[in-house]
Amino acid sequence: MSAAPLPITDVYSDYVNPQWVRLLDLLGMNATYTRCIGTELYTKDGRVILDFLSGYCVHNVGHNHPAVVAALKDELDRSGPAMLQSHVPELAGELAARLCSLAGGQLSKVFFCSSGSEGVEAVIKFVRAHTKRVGLIYATGAFHGLTCGALSLTGVNFWRDGFSPLLPGCEEVPFGDLDRLEEKLKTRKIAAVILEPIQAEAGIRVPHAKYLQEVQALCRRYGTLFVLDEVQTGMCRTGRFLAAHHYGVTPDVVILAKALSGGLVPVGAVLMTDEVYSSIYSSLKRSIVHTSTYSENGLAMRAGLATLATLESERLGPRAAFLGEELRGRLRRALSGYEMIKEVRGAGLLCGIEFQAPSKLTLRLSFEAFRRIHAGMFGQMVVMRMYREHGILTQICGNNFMVLKAAPPLVVTSEQIDQFVDAFRSVVELMHSSGAFWSEALALVGRAVNV
Ligand SMILES: Cc1ncc(COP(=O)(O)O)c(C=O)c1O
Repeated sequence: MSAAPLPITDVYSDYVNPQWVRLLDLLGMNATYTRCIGTELYTKDGRVILDFLSGYCVHNVGHNHPAVVAALKDELDRSGPAMLQSHVPELAGELAARLCSLAGGQLSKVFFCSSGSEGVEAVIKFVRAHTKRVGLIYATGAFHGLTCGALSLTGVNFWRDGFSPLLPGCEEVPFGDLDRLEEKLKTRKIAAVILEPIQAEAGIRVPHAKYLQEVQALCRRYGTLFVLDEVQTGMCRTGRFLAAHHYGVTPDVVILAKALSGGLVPVGAVLMTDEVYSSIYSSLKRSIVHTSTYSENGLAMRAGLATLATLESERLGPRAAFLGEELRGRLRRALSGYEMIKEVRGAGLLCGIEFQAPSKLTLRLSFEAFRRIHAGMFGQMVVMRMYREHGILTQICGNNFMVLKAAPPLVVTSEQIDQFVDAFRSVVELMHSSGAFWSEALALVGRAVNV
């Protein structure tokens, strides 16, 4: 007689990542989801959770968008060529052409891959091969992924600790600081400057209006390639197809991933100029000098085409721009007067709410106590309450624990935005007025220490 199957989380704990399960348990966020549609996540125990995280900007067209699902079913049903590695995948051509036309500028060739990090890895090779230089510049607080090369450009020790030595030649400059950047570029040893146009995990840091244009001008002056990592900001998340379009820049290379396949198939894309492409794939002999087995797979390509069509037909870019402004406006009005709210900022539906330490003594003592235990503890309390008491999924930024990220699918409705704002205001009210917020945080710390 076979043994009864273990509950899902037990199997996951036994064979994948028990620490992750413990963390979700601790935060009271370990739900079993049975169905996810648009902005709503349905749990086995009958709750409906509103998604204001979008899997870190994956679900721009909403969860399981019917058009993307239909395209995938269609692709499977046609039993077409997959992974032959010996033919010309037409769909990859079609998707690349659409991407280049939407991205504009000089971007005219695409390398496909299966994740954002893999895109960054490809870029590191491409920019070095093109410029015959080694140096790479990234910004403080940047997040470019966790594979070795991408991690070398991710400026936060939490992600790096234990994995040294990383890639040589990677240098950090403060985001927004043009003088420090120019000092480094003057050496003419820098192959590329790699930036997120709006830093997501660093705390939804929006640069001043001319920063990216000036970075681009400096890059051109010193023969350095200008690379934008639009893994989170691309695909209409900020209201335009690329965040680069807000700033009037024409980067040499752009990295996309996450939302490109509608959240259903792993995908990544490196868009580049003909010049960059030609220096990598420079001859017949080098026609496959950088490839990846699943890179142009039919499912990812079909999902990508369906996602682009949906972004366009549902006008999700303009919708993100409009609703993003609404969200920030409503938040600012609801949160004015609360001393722990420092700023509400963002672009489109990539929105950050920054907290600050309170000045009132009683609040300050509690706040500092938690900060000493773990810098992320305070933010996690907010995330936990938003989830548990209001059924809303959010997160704090990975490289800035004092900023809560609000990034719903772009199909979010105005009513759902109201629901988020009301819920958030009531959590903020609680942290300013009730000892319960802080005593519960203390209990959480106790449980964290004991697990
Ligand atoms: C800006 C940015 N670049 C790169 C990555 C890495 O992408 P992936 O997790 O698909 O490897 C991420 C992931 O969050 C990201 O936010």
